[in-house]
Amino acid sequence: MSIRDLISKVQSTEWYLREGSALAEQKYEEGWIANILQEAYNQVSGNYQHQCNVSVSAPNINIAMRFLYLKTKGLLTLELNKIAARSRPKLSCLEKQIRGERSVYADFALYQLGKMGYATMSSLYSQRNLAALADKVNEMVIPANSSRAWMQGEQVLKHNEVLEFISDPTIWYIAQEYLNCQPILNEVQLWKSEPFNEALHNKSKDALEWHFDHDHNRFLLFLIYLSDVKLSNGPHQCIPKSSFENMPSFMTYDGRYEDVVIERSGCKSLAFTGGMGDIIVADTINLHRGLPVNEGRRLVMQLRFVDSTGFTPRDDFNIYGKLQRELLYA
Ligand SMILES: [Fe+2]
Repeated sequence: MSIRDLISKVQSTEWYLREGSALAEQKYEEGWIANILQEAYNQVSGNYQHQCNVSVSAPNINIAMRFLYLKTKGLLTLELNKIAARSRPKLSCLEKQIRGERSVYADFALYQLGKMGYATMSSLYSQRNLAALADKVNEMVIPANSSRAWMQGEQVLKHNEVLEFISDPTIWYIAQEYLNCQPILNEVQLWKSEPFNEALHNKSKDALEWHFDHDHNRFLLFLIYLSDVKLSNGPHQCIPKSSFENMPSFMTYDGRYEDVVIERSGCKSLAFTGGMGDIIVADTINLHRGLPVNEGRRLVMQLRFVDSTGFTPRDDFNIYGKLQRELLYA
């Protein structure tokens, strides 16, 4: 699909015919949507080794893409993903590298993802390495005015256990098949969370309320528990299959969703309790939240794969891009 086709496809959606032209005229400068779509097209069709020439600033394009996701009910995301798939086709070598029972885990995870937007897997990693990494995460110091500590970027990649996890072709294969293209690893984080003081806590900011993520076009998270997580330790919680193309109009708005709205909608939520080493694979375009840590602590490693660069200033493709080239093209 060319950029022209993409623009006309978005412009032919029911939303655009009803609201789009008026919005483009009133709220934004002339040609705003065409401009944003051109930038999005450049980013999804670019090779991840090449940073696109960003003519629209990162925070603005992120807000615009979120807005267009809402207004096209996911159509734009799917069309951009097809362009990413054509630009960076899947690597056939990944599947061949998966050993033994891991290919069964991978196929089952993909089945669950297709059905629910979420999947769970038992540990793929040695308990010894998990325990060693958990010890290191546990050593992180939580600031006095907070309930959590985190680490990312080069600091995280110094730990051999992290390198072992992210070198496993199983997760790359799952990300590739789900994202329909050669995936890009753009975030590796370690988190330690403890019970918080209500007075200090911003519940919405800390993602403890129902919401969807849209910092990228299509993306997939792997949450690897590094401690046992019971209901009182703040498990991840989701509503399966709640991306906008699957939801009624009254459930498709931006912002946080109150518990009462979820209850009235009839949607059923799932809380992912589990043991050290359990893995949750999550497309967090679906509604989700983290339950609060009321007891003990929760230790987690989080990996994020995306189908295209850009859209958010938090991305650090230089660090992970180098690692990815070493892993996939060695
Ligand atoms: Fe989130």
